[in-house]
Amino acid sequence: MSWFRREVRTHIDNAMTEDSRVLADIHGRSFDRGWSAEEMRAMISAHPVVEVLALRRSDSGKATTAGFVVLRIAGGEAEILTLAVDPQYRRCGYGKLLMEEALRHAYRDRAGAVFLEVDETNRAAVPLYSALGFETVGRRARYYERQDGPAGSALVMRLRLG
Ligand SMILES: CC(C)(COP(=O)(O)OP(=O)(O)OC[C@H]1O[C@@H](n2cnc3c(N)ncnc32)[C@H](O)[C@@H]1OP(=O)(O)O)[C@@H](O)C(=O)NCCC(=O)NCCS
Repeated sequence: MSWFRREVRTHIDNAMTEDSRVLADIHGRSFDRGWSAEEMRAMISAHPVVEVLALRRSDSGKATTAGFVVLRIAGGEAEILTLAVDPQYRRCGYGKLLMEEALRHAYRDRAGAVFLEVDETNRAAVPLYSALGFETVGRRARYYERQDGPAGSALVMRLRLG
């Protein structure tokens, strides 16, 4: 019997409007209120103020989009608008890779700090952001509407750059 390791390659690039449907699908499977393909297309078209960075994964020649991050850079600050990884590819390090690339873009575009909002009960994202050096600088009570219970609160997190 022969053993071999399948090679999985990844790279991150700017999303194109043709990616809108795939990204909307990943977003819809990641959040209670997903963004439509039209909303996603508008985000991608807002380049360069809004950056939509997609992580492409290639496994045995088959290429798929595994996740994406959206950031807005304006007025010397950056804001992470969303981050989502396809549920089937989570815990592979892709969320971290996407965030690191987003931070590189923010730094390159001379943002002094990066902000984001996150549901305080998000057990995946809060540790990810904390590990990257984000710190909590505010809390917005009852910020997220929920269909199945009381509204959830948001943490406002910040990472200083430079
Ligand atoms: C949050 C999200 C993007 C993380 O993506 P991911 O590719 O699974 O994350 P990574 O594999 O890069 O994990 C990096 C670190 O994040 C933390 N983390 C990620 N998922 C976690 C989980 N389910 N439980 C605890 N910690 C977790 C860990 O610290 C992890 O490091 P480790 O693997 O060395 O322990 C993904 O879970 C997702 O798309 N969730 C739904 C959408 C969402 O909540 N987005 C964030 C909105 S603010």
